[in-house]
Amino acid sequence: MVAHTTDVTLAIDGGAPIRTSPWPAYDNGDAYVADEDIAAAVQALRSRRYFRYDSRPHEATEAGAFEAALCRYFGATHALGCASGTTALALGLLALDLPAASGVICPAFTFAATPSAILLAGHRPVLVECDDELQLDLADLRRKMAAGARAIVVVHMRGFAADMPAITAIADEFGVPIVEDAVPALGVRLAGRPLGTWGRVGAFSTQSDKALNTGEGGFLLTDDATVYSRALVYSGAYESRMARHFTDPPGLDDLSLPLFSWRMDEIRAALARAQLGRLPGRLEAHRRNYDRVAAALGGRPDIAVRQPVAPGAYLGEALLLRLPDGPSAWWFARALRAEGIGVRAFGDPDDVNVRAFWNWRFLFPDPAVTRSAYPVSTAAVARTVDIPLSANLTEEDCAQLVDAVDKVAAALPGRLP
Ligand SMILES: Cc1ncc(COP(=O)(O)O)c(C=O)c1O
Repeated sequence: MVAHTTDVTLAIDGGAPIRTSPWPAYDNGDAYVADEDIAAAVQALRSRRYFRYDSRPHEATEAGAFEAALCRYFGATHALGCASGTTALALGLLALDLPAASGVICPAFTFAATPSAILLAGHRPVLVECDDELQLDLADLRRKMAAGARAIVVVHMRGFAADMPAITAIADEFGVPIVEDAVPALGVRLAGRPLGTWGRVGAFSTQSDKALNTGEGGFLLTDDATVYSRALVYSGAYESRMARHFTDPPGLDDLSLPLFSWRMDEIRAALARAQLGRLPGRLEAHRRNYDRVAAALGGRPDIAVRQPVAPGAYLGEALLLRLPDGPSAWWFARALRAEGIGVRAFGDPDDVNVRAFWNWRFLFPDPAVTRSAYPVSTAAVARTVDIPLSANLTEEDCAQLVDAVDKVAAALPGRLP
C-alpha cells in the first residue's frame, strides 16, 4: 500500500483531513454493478412481464430462474425469492409453525430487523448475550433455551460466521430449529459449508448494502419441503401457484394460511441473477480489501481487530475494531469520520445506531434498564467501531483508511478517559 504524508493535527481538531472525497458506500451511490446486470434488468422491463406468476412455465420466469441458480450456488434443495431480508426471516419463522407468541432466541448484537422479523412472525424475541468478539454467548444461550425458547435465530453479523457447530449442538440438544439470519454474510462459508444452509432455513437480503444488490429484496433457502411449501403460501403463491415450485407438490391447502404478498418481482430477480453470476468476483474483491486492511491494522495497543470463529469465515464487507471502552470508541469513530473515513461506533450516543439493542424502544422502553440487563453485550457493542469496506475500494482508499487509523490511533492515548 502507498504510504501518505499526513498533517499530524487531527481533522477533528481543525487539521487537514486524510481524504476529502466520500467514503465509498451504498448510500452515496457506490454499487458493484456491471453493464450486463443492468442489461438483464432492462430486458426484464422490456418483457412487460413483471409479476413472477404468469402464463410462462415456472423455470422460464426470472424469479424461477433466480431460485434455481440459488439452489445450484448454495447446494440447497429449495430457494424462494421474496421482498426483503426481514420478510425472508419472517417467512422462515412462520413456516416453522411454532405456537403463537413463542420465545425465539436472537443475539443482542444484531440489526433491529432480526427481532422485528420475530415480532412480525407473531413471536417474542428473547435476547442472548454476546461476548467480547460479539459472538453468541453459549452459556447464556443454553440458559435461555432451558427457559423454554422454541427456536434460535442465529445472525452472522457484519459478515462474520457465528459458531454454527456449537450452536447446532445446543439446538439439537433442545430439539429446536435454527433460522439463520445470513443477511450480512451472503457467500461466506464455514468449514466448507455456505452460511444460510446450516439451519432449517437461511434468510438473505438483496438490499443495496448486501453482496447482491437489487435495491430491496431477499430470499430464503431450505431443504425442508414442508417448510418451503408453507413459506410459499405465506409469501403469496396463491391459487395453486405453490405447486409450480415442486415436481411432486406437498398436499398443502393453500387457503389454510394467510397470504402476505412478500414475493420477489421479475425485475429484481433478473438483476439479482445477473449479479449472482459475478458474486465470486465480488467476494474476492471484499476478501482482498479486507485482508489488506486487517493486516495493516493488526498489532496496535488498545485496538483489536475482530477475529473470525474460523480462518476465512467472514465476508470482508465490514471491519470491526474493538477499543478499550465506549467513550474511546465514540471519539475514535468521530475522529476517523473527520478524516473522511465513513465509520461509525455502534454505541455512540450522538449517532444513534439500530445495531445497538438498547436503542430498540419498540422492545425495550428504557435504554438504561436494557443495558444493565445485558452488561456483557452492552460493553462489547459500545466499544466497537464499524468500518464498511466496499468491494470497489481501491488500493488508495485502503491506504487512506490505514493512514487515518494510524493518525487517530497515535492521538488515542491522550484521549482515553
Ligand atoms: C442482520 C440483518 N438482518 C436482517 C436485515 C434486514 O434486511 P432487509 O433490509 O432486506 O429487510 C438486515 C439489514 O441490513 C440485517 O443487517
